[in-house]
Amino acid sequence: MRTSSTKNGISFLCLMMSSVGVWLLYVLLSGCSAPAERPPLDPGQALYSAKCASCHRLLPAQDYTADVWQEYVVKYGKQATEQQRQEILRYLQQNARPAQ
Ligand code: HEC
Repeated sequence: MRTSSTKNGISFLCLMMSSVGVWLLYVLLSGCSAPAERPPLDPGQALYSAKCASCHRLLPAQDYTADVWQEYVVKYGKQATEQQRQEILRYLQQNARPAQ
């Protein structure tokens, strides 16, 4: 009798542990799928602040149209690689002021 109650005690403990595990998993997963408070940083935006903020403040992407950004990224993007310039330009153009 004694042993079986210990066994029951252990399986109860196991059940508790696994439900804690399931609960933790649930919390972790729902934490991941919950709408983010901050949208994840766009890699182009990250590059833009890394490559374009050393000499002057970052200008909002909405300040210029896509065409104008094209010129500025070519003109001032000398420190960036071709691939980085493309990422920066993609980010800026996606958020650019609509051309009239
Ligand atoms: C080596 C320094 C330097 C870096 C790096 C740099 N710029 Fe500039 N940028 C300047 C200078 C100098 C000007 C001239 C106007 C000024 O003094 O603000 C300027 C002006 C600009 C302007 C025009 C601002 C205006 O008011 O007319 C834009 C837009 C611009 N840069 C975008 C960029 C972008 C995009 C990058 C990254 C690809 C970048 N810059 C990186 C030095 C830099």
